[in-house]
Amino acid sequence: MNPASVSPTPPTVRSPRFIQVDQADHAAARDELIDGLNATAAHTSPKFLYDALGSRLFEAITELVEYYPTRTEAAIFNQHGAAMAKAMGEVGTLVDLGAGNCAKAMGLMNTLTPQRYVAVDISVDFLQESLRTVQRAHPTLDVLGVGQDFSKSLQLPADTLQGRPVFFYPGSSIGNFTPVQALSFLTGVHEQTRAQSETGGLLIGIDLVKANELLQPAYDDALGVTAAFNLNVLLHLNRLIGSDFSPRDWQHVALFNTERSRIEMHLQARRAVTVTWPQGSRQFEQGERLHTENSYKYTVEGFAALLSAAGFKSSQRWLDDRGWFAVFWAQS
Ligand code: AVI
Repeated sequence: MNPASVSPTPPTVRSPRFIQVDQADHAAARDELIDGLNATAAHTSPKFLYDALGSRLFEAITELVEYYPTRTEAAIFNQHGAAMAKAMGEVGTLVDLGAGNCAKAMGLMNTLTPQRYVAVDISVDFLQESLRTVQRAHPTLDVLGVGQDFSKSLQLPADTLQGRPVFFYPGSSIGNFTPVQALSFLTGVHEQTRAQSETGGLLIGIDLVKANELLQPAYDDALGVTAAFNLNVLLHLNRLIGSDFSPRDWQHVALFNTERSRIEMHLQARRAVTVTWPQGSRQFEQGERLHTENSYKYTVEGFAALLSAAGFKSSQRWLDDRGWFAVFWAQS
């Protein structure tokens, strides 16, 4: 056979793999919600903001003029991506926590060039479409979707990490944890990034403390998208526990608690309201609040100290020109 006529071996085109680790526990969610509603200061976990509509409303929030974090973080990656990649060194497995549409990791893929990309989200259903897009753009990349509640456990399925592991947690999502939860989460990431023969690290986005005039409107925009995002939790609760919340009885409140360095989102009763659900009820006075989310804001020094308390050996950070947001590379 004429060797010139032999066609070259085509590159291996892979398909994404999926593993669903956690199953939705409706009974546990119901118990948690009812405990929160019955507490003296009524509260719900921010995770209940993200039903299908809530997730879409959050995407809309990221496009609002007032909501600076998403576009500010993107500008930092654009400006400093190459310097970050240099500081980070080789990436074996890139683990994207709360990956969603995988857009942020996609933007870094050509700079970080991992061998394997692991997208973690609560359900692999959210990852199917986006991981197929990732695979089309990077046909030889090893792509894995893991359905796991990483706020409960960071222990990934066996053999998920290959080569040097780098965890990626952008968007200042860590701000929605309490400081105690944040420390325990970072300690967990530190353990995972040391579990391989080659020690890795964490690339994480952090929203920084700034003037109330900038922070408050970011969580109470003129169009009322954040208000809709917050009020939508009531409809989600109605479906989950069979309650009869009426969003029209409630008003969105967002305030910066300076002492605790956090934005708080609440729903405030516009009038005296009785909410009922099977086997229970709660009366709210006019003006009484249901606390739905905290979003902690850090100083650069404060977050560096938290990383070091979690066990990270060193950290580097890149800020935008206005000093509103920081991306940290923490070396395990
Ligand atoms: C997802 N998380 C980082 C957002 C934040 O800024 O805390 C959620 C959000 N809540 C209101 N607006 C945006």
